Amino acid sequence: MAVKTLDDLLTEGVEGRGVLVRSDLNVPLDDDRNITDPGRIIASVPTLKALSDAGAKVVVTAHLGRPKNGPSPEFSLAPVAKALGEQLGRHVQLAGDVVGTDALARAEGLTDGDILLLENIRFDPRETSKDDGERLALARQLVELVGGPDGSGGAFVSDGFGVVHRKQASVYDVATLLPHYAGTLVAAEIKVLEQLTSSTERPYAVVLGGSKVSDKLAVIENLATKADSVVIGGGMCFTFLASQGVSVGSSLLEEGMIDTCRKLLEDYGDVIHLPVDIVVAEEFKANSPAETVAADRIPDNKMGLDIGPGSVERFTTLLSNAKTIFWNGPMGVFEFPAFAAGTKGLAEAIIAATGKGAFSVVGGGDSAAAVRQLGLPEDGFSHISTGGGASLEYLEGKTLPGIDVLDD
Ligand code: 3PG
Repeated sequence: MAVKTLDDLLTEGVEGRGVLVRSDLNVPLDDDRNITDPGRIIASVPTLKALSDAGAKVVVTAHLGRPKNGPSPEFSLAPVAKALGEQLGRHVQLAGDVVGTDALARAEGLTDGDILLLENIRFDPRETSKDDGERLALARQLVELVGGPDGSGGAFVSDGFGVVHRKQASVYDVATLLPHYAGTLVAAEIKVLEQLTSSTERPYAVVLGGSKVSDKLAVIENLATKADSVVIGGGMCFTFLASQGVSVGSSLLEEGMIDTCRKLLEDYGDVIHLPVDIVVAEEFKANSPAETVAADRIPDNKMGLDIGPGSVERFTTLLSNAKTIFWNGPMGVFEFPAFAAGTKGLAEAIIAATGKGAFSVVGGGDSAAAVRQLGLPEDGFSHISTGGGASLEYLEGKTLPGIDVLDD
């Protein structure tokens, strides 16, 4: 692939030049709109700082959540603009709209080194439209913000790794209109994923959690043929358990996926590993009394909220001699302390293997957030990716539109 990088752009020179940057600032917020994990904001800083330091007029576009009905305060990037400013140590203006009069006026008023964040790009329905013409029209308006009506002079830096699997106006179409470059985050993430897929040292262990089998099906099918072991926990393990005829009580279950899980276990039973015990409770609540039961003894009135200690021990043994590990998705409801031990235990097993020389990649918002929220050392892993869906799609062998479009 011939992809130009931020360094190429800096060498060309950006002083006084309008540069549009797509960042992934999609961070989790609590009910009071406080950011609970600023990982993606922190990861976006190096590219933005380098451009600002070099005197570019930086216009940042990003999304937050999946707003469906146009602008709404609940999805505003206001808390993100504030946090980004704090991380950068410089003021970040927030436009009151996406490509409207306020964004235009602010973009025109930028001086060298200034940073302007546009409001949530998904407030404009054209961002996610399936209609190429609609997306292109929005992309043209974004381009106007950095290079005048004909786009001359502007540049586009793709740095939102978490969204490169989306064919969206601010990710894909803008790159077709402007000279384009991979930001430092995108370049670093791709390098790691290339290492994971091209020079995989064995044994290769994959740890998958999260709630839905349907979200992970393609990656399970793909990795079961490549990895030596695929460890399954989180909400999706109950559909696998149910496919073996086990009663899973009121645990999360995707009825429609039971046959698929059965088939996967028939085909890859020696590779796929399921929990042997489960921490259950009556309600999905932090203080719902917890007990550990064998995986085939889940009471009818209880739901599984974490994998049990026996499973952690088994999985730890599996991981202990791994040379390559990819982890995506928590093992349980780690946000509730009573159901966090499974995720913590597996993370610690991965850290221990990394200490013995394994190459470990944590992929995805939830697992990355778990690492930080459980107070685990981030440098205990070889790499913590900012992209969940993006890293999974890469590992599935899919083409990522936001990367493909950067190839000249
Ligand atoms: C993510 O959270 O994985 C990225 O920001 C992409 O968000 P999306 O799944 O809503 O496109």
